[in-house]
Amino acid sequence: MIVVPGSQSQNLAYEVSTILNADYIRVEFKRFPDNEIYVRILDEINDDKAVIIATQRYQNDAIVESFLLYDALRDEGVKDIILVAPYLAYARQDKKFNPGEAISIRILAEIYSKMFKEVVTVNPHEEHIKEFFSIPFVSLDAVPKLAEYFKDKLENPVVLGPDQGALRFAKSAAEVLNAEYDYLEKTRITPTEIKIAPKNIDVKDREVLIVDDIISTGGTVATAAKMMLEQGAKKIYAACVHPVLIGDAVNKLYHSGIVEVVGTNTFSSEVSKVSVAEVIANYLKTI
Ligand code: R5P
Repeated sequence: MIVVPGSQSQNLAYEVSTILNADYIRVEFKRFPDNEIYVRILDEINDDKAVIIATQRYQNDAIVESFLLYDALRDEGVKDIILVAPYLAYARQDKKFNPGEAISIRILAEIYSKMFKEVVTVNPHEEHIKEFFSIPFVSLDAVPKLAEYFKDKLENPVVLGPDQGALRFAKSAAEVLNAEYDYLEKTRITPTEIKIAPKNIDVKDREVLIVDDIISTGGTVATAAKMMLEQGAKKIYAACVHPVLIGDAVNKLYHSGIVEVVGTNTFSSEVSKVSVAEVIANYLKTI
């Protein structure tokens, strides 16, 4: 198996190739004056199996680039081409929220299914998108790796999902940390007053780790952190797999009282301190 980097995942692809002891292929990436993307495989290919590792942070470019890499590899005689998109773009438009909308990930899944042998991603927003693919769609879990980062930092923490949907992430992190876990429940006290508190656990005098799949604007986690501090929590840490962190999100998170924000390199950002290379490589070793 050879490892081919997308332009946005060159370091991650190299890390994976090193763990796998696989050839890391040189690719030229450039743009035409009108901004169109160009790729060229520079190394000779003597393998019929390739894995493209290309996260989709800059989504439209990454998607087109993966098509071009597919085409170039196919021409070089590679038969089985796997796409690893650690952050899978358009996955949040997984249903019609309003009449007339496209189900974006559905059409992309149909296109990917015509090209790739399988598509691998890390903690997609919703697992049900698998149904849109007619090829194997594999979703890897980076939460345990993220939790390892906190192993020696936290003292008897409570791990919290900021909503019920995130309970599975809290559970996965808590298993690594040998900690209690819960999720935050919103209760309406009066028509204008809302209380956000852990469903079962008292956070008073406890260290808290809030875990989510994505931190985007930071609003969800910042509100949760403020509430936990009001309820007596000692220290708050925040972790997410995909640190999308739009605009002033990092600033907002620290302003809410969080002492450290940590994400992975599925979506490169200034808090991407945990690499998912091992998570991806461990899966690729099995196929
Ligand atoms: C929602 O279901 C996700 O798991 C995240 O909670 C959400 O994307 C976070 O968004 P924001 O950071 O903008 O509050």
